Parts: sequence; C-alpha cells; structure tokens
Amino acid sequence: MIEIDNQPVNATSQAVRAGLLAAVEAAERDPETGAVVIACAGRTFTAGGDISEFGKTPLLPHLPVVLNRIEAATKPVVVAWHGTALGGGCEIGLAAHARVMAADARIGLPEVRLGLCPGAGGTQRLPRLCGVVTAIDLATSGRMMAAEDALKSGIVDEIAHGDLRAAALARATAMIGAPLRRTGEIPVPDSPPDAVAAAEARARKEARGRIAPERIIGLIRRAGIVPFAEGLAEERATFFELMATDQSRALRHVFFAEREVGKIRDIEGVNARPISRIGVIGAGTMGAGIAVALLDAGYPVTIIETDVAALERGRDRIGALYDRMLASGRLTAEDRALRLSGATFSAELADLAQVDLVIEAVFEDMAVKKGLLVRLEAVTRADVILATNTSYLDLNEMAGVLARPQNLVGLHFFSPAHVMKLLEIVRAKRTAPDVLASAVTLGRRLKKVAVVSGVCDGFIGNRILAKYRAQCEFMLEEGALPQEIDTALETYGFPMGPFAVQDLAGLDIAWARRKRLAPTRLPDERYVPLADRLCELGRFGQKTGSGWYRYEGGKRLVDQAVTDLILEHSRAIGMERRQITPQEIQARALAAMVNEGARIVAEGIACRPLDIDIVMINGYGYPAWRGGPMHEADRIGLPAILKTLKPMQTRDGPAFEASALLVEIAAEGGTLAQLNIRG
Ligand code: 3HC
Ligand code: NAI
Repeated sequence: MIEIDNQPVNATSQAVRAGLLAAVEAAERDPETGAVVIACAGRTFTAGGDISEFGKTPLLPHLPVVLNRIEAATKPVVVAWHGTALGGGCEIGLAAHARVMAADARIGLPEVRLGLCPGAGGTQRLPRLCGVVTAIDLATSGRMMAAEDALKSGIVDEIAHGDLRAAALARATAMIGAPLRRTGEIPVPDSPPDAVAAAEARARKEARGRIAPERIIGLIRRAGIVPFAEGLAEERATFFELMATDQSRALRHVFFAEREVGKIRDIEGVNARPISRIGVIGAGTMGAGIAVALLDAGYPVTIIETDVAALERGRDRIGALYDRMLASGRLTAEDRALRLSGATFSAELADLAQVDLVIEAVFEDMAVKKGLLVRLEAVTRADVILATNTSYLDLNEMAGVLARPQNLVGLHFFSPAHVMKLLEIVRAKRTAPDVLASAVTLGRRLKKVAVVSGVCDGFIGNRILAKYRAQCEFMLEEGALPQEIDTALETYGFPMGPFAVQDLAGLDIAWARRKRLAPTRLPDERYVPLADRLCELGRFGQKTGSGWYRYEGGKRLVDQAVTDLILEHSRAIGMERRQITPQEIQARALAAMVNEGARIVAEGIACRPLDIDIVMINGYGYPAWRGGPMHEADRIGLPAILKTLKPMQTRDGPAFEASALLVEIAAEGGTLAQLNIRG
C-alpha cells in the first residue's frame, strides 16, 4: 500500500512525485510485494498538480515520468480513489492497471479551468478507457464525474460501497499473475462521428474565447491517430505552452483569489455565531431564490410574507424553482420533497422568535426596510443576526433604527439567488466582527463565492456596473450602436453585452431608480437619457417584446426605431457621431471598470483589487480567463488604462476623473496586484 500524504488536497508537489516514484520502484524490487495499491490520506485523493508551483521551472521527477513508470510496472498497481481525484490525481489512476472508487468519490480533469490541458497523460489515456466523446466532455468542461457514471463509461473497474482500501487491495491481489491491462496499450475505441462532432461543438460553444478547450479537443483526437508515446509528448508540450499564456496566468489568479476573498484579517480567530435556523422575509424574486439556496444547503427556513395570499404566491414561486430543477434532471422528486420539507411558511413576524439569522428581501425602500427592522428586532432574540439583501440602500442609515446595530449585516445575493455564485457580504460601520464571521461561514456553507464590501451606493459590483454601463451609453451618443457595443463586449468574453443584459433583466427597475435619484444628480454629470426614452415608449426589454432590441419568436433583432432614436439624440445634443472601433469599445469599458475599482479599493470598500476581480467574474459575466478587470489592467499596463481614461475625462466631466490611486501606482511603475495583501 502506497499512501500519499500531502494534505489538505494531496497535491502532486515535487516531494509527492519523488516519493511515489521511489515507492513504486521499491515495490517492484521487493520480492515480498505481489501488488500495489495507491491511496491517499485525509479528505481526498490527489486533487492534481500543485498550482502554486505552476509557472516555475518544474522539478524532477516530472509526473508523466512517474506515471509511465507506474503503467510499466510488472506488478499490478490499483488506485483507490476517494474524495475528488482531479487532474494529476485522476491521471495517476488512469496510468494504473485498475481503478477502484469510493461510492461518493468524484473524478475530473479540471486543468481546462486553469487554462491548461491535462499534462500527465489525461488526454491520451482517458479516451482509451471511455472513448473520445466522454473524454472531450470531461476534459473540456472540467466537470466532475460521479462514481456510477465513471463505472458505466468504463473509467473505473469497481465501486467500493464499503471499505475502499480493502476493496482495492482485494482487486490488486486477485490480479497477481494475470496479464496487466496497461491503458496506453489499449486502442482508442471507435465513436460515432456525429457524437464526436456534437461533443466538439458543445465544447467550442462553451469555450467563449478560451483557447485551452480547442487544444484539448485536438489532443484527444490525436490519441486515436498517433502512437501513444507521441501523443504523450504532444500533450506535455501543449501543457507547457498553455502554462505560459496570459489566459492560464489569469485563471490561476482567479483560482487563488476565489479562496483568498474569504480570508479577512479583522475576523481571523473570531468565532462565528452558530446558525441553525433561518428566517427569510419577502418571498418575491429574491426571497424565493434565497430560501431555495438555504434549503438546498440543509437549513430549516421560515418564510414570511405580508399576508396569506402573498405567502401562497411565495410558496408557488419556490415550488416552481424546484420544478425547474426537477424538469432539468438536477433533482429527484424525493430530493424536492425533502428540501421543501425544511420550509415553513408564515404571515407572522413573531414566528421568527427563535431563528439565528433573518434575511430580509422586501421592497427596495428605505422606509419599508427600517420599519421592518424595528419590528423584527422586537420579536427576535438579542443575538440574532439581521441581514438585508438591499442592492443599494445605506446600511449605516438602516442600522440607525436598531437598538443593536452590531447585529446588522448585508447579504447581497444575485438573481437567481440559488444559482448565482456571488454573494456580497456588506459590512456596515457597526457590524460586529462575529456577525461578519458568521456571514462568511454561511457563504461557505451555501457554496457561494462571498466577497466582503463596505457600504456605498451599489456596493462593489453594482457600483462598477453603473460606470461600465454609463461608459457604454456615452459611446452610443458618440457614434456606436447597441448591437456594435454588445458584439464588441461579447467578443471580449462577456456572455452577453450590456444592452442585451438590460433587455433580459428589464429596463423598468433601473428607470424607477433613476427617477428616484434624479433630484440628487450632479448638474454637471454627463447623463444619457436614451434608456429613459425607451421606457417612456413602454420598451422595458424582452418582457414587452422590445427594449434596446426588438424580439420576435424569441429572436433578438436590431430595431431601426432604436437606431433612429440614438441618431436623433446625438443630433439634438450636437454630438458629431464617429466610428467607434470594437477595440475602443472594449478599452473604454475596461478602463471605466478599473477606474471605479481603484476608487473602491482606495476608499476601503473592497479589501483588495482581487476582490473586485472575483465580484465581476462571478456576478457580472466578466470573462474569468482575463482574470478580472484589475488583473487585466495590470496585464495591459496602468499607463494604457490612464491613457484611455484621459479622453473620457475631458468629455465626461467629473464622473470619470482618474482615480488618484491608479495615477499614483502608475507613476511608480507599480501594479494593482501589489495591493493584493490579506484584507
Ligand atoms: N494545488 C495547490 N493548492 C491547492 C490545490 C492544488 N491543486 N487544490 C487546492 N489547493 C489549496 C487551496 O488553495 C486551499 O488552500 P488554502 O486553504 O490555503 O486557501 C486548500 O488547498 C483547500 O482547497 P479548497 O479551499 O478549494 O478546498 P475544497 O474542499 O473546497 O475543494 C478541491 C477541494 C475540489 C480539490 C478544490 O481545491 C479544487 O478544485 N482544487 C483544484 C483542482 C485542480 O484544478 N487540479 C488540477 C491541477 S492541474 C494538474 O493536475 C496538472 C496535471 O495534469 C499535470
Ligand atoms: P419583489 O418585489 O419580487 O419581492 C419583494 C417581496 O417582499 C414581495 O413578495 C412582497 O410581498 C414582500 N414584502 C414586502 N414588504 C414586506 C413585509 N413588510 N413583510 C414581508 N414581506 C414583504 O422584490 P425583489 O426583486 O425580490 O427584491 C427584494 C430585495 O432584494 C430588494 O431590496 C432588492 O433591491 C434586492 N435585490 C434584488 C435583486 C433583483 O435582481 N431583483 C438582486 C439583488 C438584490
């Protein structure tokens, strides 16, 4: 039995590779050893290469060499997969002569998520076991596969329902003396060409600007064409080539940044308050989604609405969310029933007397929220955590009505709340450290990427979004059309351009907000009234059949009426329209985000630039392979960002004045990344 012990995730660092090689060789030499089982200590089998070593010169022995040695062994080698056998961890198993998997284990080749291809035989061995179609699916999506599916597809030989190591040992022992099945010697099985084409098409569609998926497809296809050793060499070369790309650097930054955001200096060592029962107030769009997110994580939830009729509508909304999961096969009928059994519905605030946390998702109205908080504080325990899902309202003002303002925190979920990974945790001036720690713990339990934000209008994400959108609207006035801007930004990597997104979400809510804020707008602020014009015409987006576009039979179409409206507007304000290139659109959109991001960091609203990257990627569709706007700004250089900002400044007035922090760092020749120290 060879046991790898390099916790937490048993990454294949140099010492592990060297140890594994030495152990396999020793086993080969040892006359007492008839067969070998490779297992891992701790919570998981190897989760792959040590990502913190990536980009540095790899130290000997290289993993492919170790794996070739395992495959060539004359004694049977069996892996015992538990937890998540990922990347190099999966590849160790593929090189073994048999694979036994715990019933709850999962395997995967997530290298693509780091902008890489598998680097230790994954693209060459996997298709030999399961065929090209499944191999393309797994390696280009990076998704994890459950044991049952791995067995069905031929990747594993056995599922251990009891003692995994004992099962692996029994299998290895039974294999002694029998001919060994070496994966590299198995021919790649034939696959129906149309199924391969469909798998490739799916992968290409999901790639959206990422280069690794196409390279992975190429390597997997080569497995059936070139000799095994040649395929391995091509894979290794591609792995290092991809490692040196900006995309892989960016995705590695994202990997570590997503883990770093949860580490907040102020709450290190602070004990979170225990949370076992939760109340949700308001079962509208957000409340229903939040309730589902909580129920999915196993919390009992009490859902409160204003009256019985609203409560019924809320119950239907939650049921409908589960129905959709059921219809798409993501949930079984039993799971649906089990999760719903955790929900209690009530029209009485007093039913929250014993909960540990209340999340309110009522109308976005300060007076409504304040009134509710006062009543809530009166019926709940003194140590209850009160959370608001407000998108914009001032938490410090809200806290002012509470006798215990330290209990208030913002939990800003994104729509749909049970799907979107981002959670902004808003820390008000008086939020207690243990309340903040509890929110971070909750975020982890909900499997969200939780980023801490200070209080400001729109917090981190919506504040940046406002500047990004404003910049796009400026470009409408100056010469671009919505479809040109959307196409440029979709080419940049956003799944949807800003105008298509607005049509999808509905233009009316933002319109109502703009009308509310109109009296406080600065007189010299550049304001583009085009969205208001659309709303005045009843064009609220997809739900009314038209907005920035026209919609017919589910298709998005360019609308001449919108073009005319924009041209007329430019004329009316005396703006001479000019051609705006896709490059300019992309540069200005990025500069607007980076500039506001730098202000947010300078004001202490975000802990570090990396928090901004993670918010924009997980909440707003910013392409992960660019690493987030702040990472991308460092890549192209801050002087270039400032140069883009300058013409924006002269035209735009104070709204786009360059952030002092940005100017300062650029002057010193520094980078935003240097501010990525523990927040
Ligand atoms: N290398 C280095 N560190 C890693 C790591 C890796 N492959 N995987 C996880 N870690 C670190 C994390 O940064 C974290 O460190 P921290 O506590 O200091 O923040 C710690 O291990 C625990 O990780 P998580 O917080 O992510 O723990 P979870 O239990 O939530 O998730 C996991 C575990 C599913 C294994 C997840 O960590 C994961 O997906 N890891 C990455 C797996 C991966 O991408 N592997 C492929 C690597 S590339 C490769 O193998 C190349 C090969 O083909 C040659
Ligand atoms: P919604 O209008 O869909 O739902 C609000 C619900 O609250 C309604 O069902 C209403 O009956 C209920 N309600 C109002 N007052 C109540 C009270 N006193 N007691 C109990 N229930 C009450 O609104 P939506 O979109 O769900 O928004 C809720 C909150 O979430 C707002 O603060 C909003 O800014 C925020 N938010 C909204 C997002 C979105 O995309 N819709 C995204 C993130 C946050």
